[in-house]
Amino acid sequence: MRCTAIIPAAGIGTRFGGSLPKQFSEYESIPILIHTLKLFERIPEVNSVILAITPSWEEYTREMITVHGLEKVQKIIPGGKERQDSVFNSLNIIEPNEFDVIIIHDAVRPFVSSELVRKIINTAGETGAVIPALKPKETIKQFDDKGFIIKTLDRTVLCAVQTPQGFKSDVIISSYKKAMKENFYATDDAALVEYSGFPVKVIDGEETNIKITTQFDIHF
Ligand code: C5P
Repeated sequence: MRCTAIIPAAGIGTRFGGSLPKQFSEYESIPILIHTLKLFERIPEVNSVILAITPSWEEYTREMITVHGLEKVQKIIPGGKERQDSVFNSLNIIEPNEFDVIIIHDAVRPFVSSELVRKIINTAGETGAVIPALKPKETIKQFDDKGFIIKTLDRTVLCAVQTPQGFKSDVIISSYKKAMKENFYATDDAALVEYSGFPVKVIDGEETNIKITTQFDIHF
């Protein structure tokens, strides 16, 4: 099975504070993005990586890729305004039938395990679309714009979604084409697949697979 990993890394990280986009902040003296890329180097099932970044960060990123001896980054392409635009730009450079499975993983989730990535690839090959998720531990409520509760939701039917999300190549490419044509925007890739009417399988995510969003997350 041929698989590529798309890593959207073109965010500006406004919730993170500081002068650097969060994917370039360092953890153990290595940029978070490089930690994430190193992970895919170690997974034989991933044949190549496509990286979407802000063009002004390209030179530095290429330098880091060389310094850390990363061999799987096949293409570096410009990101877009939203994460979805960055992923769409990445999908656009893939030839039809070039890959069987495409996985999409946030640059700012460096702690995902190889086991979960492999499970996503294999399950995507079987079902067409798969996402990792965790059941909420807290009670979840819906609130209005004045800060008052509208209702308490049934948490047994809810889940908090992570990446990597995995798809058969034709499923994700056709779903993105339809969504972009119809100007349908969402906060994860699976939502576009759902919009196209394909079933999406959910498997267990990992508590350690955190998305680095604030300074607190990096200390944590
Ligand atoms: O902003 P958020 O935390 O949702 O970003 C998730 C991932 O998407 C990050 O790796 C970020 O760099 C990437 N992103 C992107 N292009 C954007 C916005 C976010 O590639 N325009």
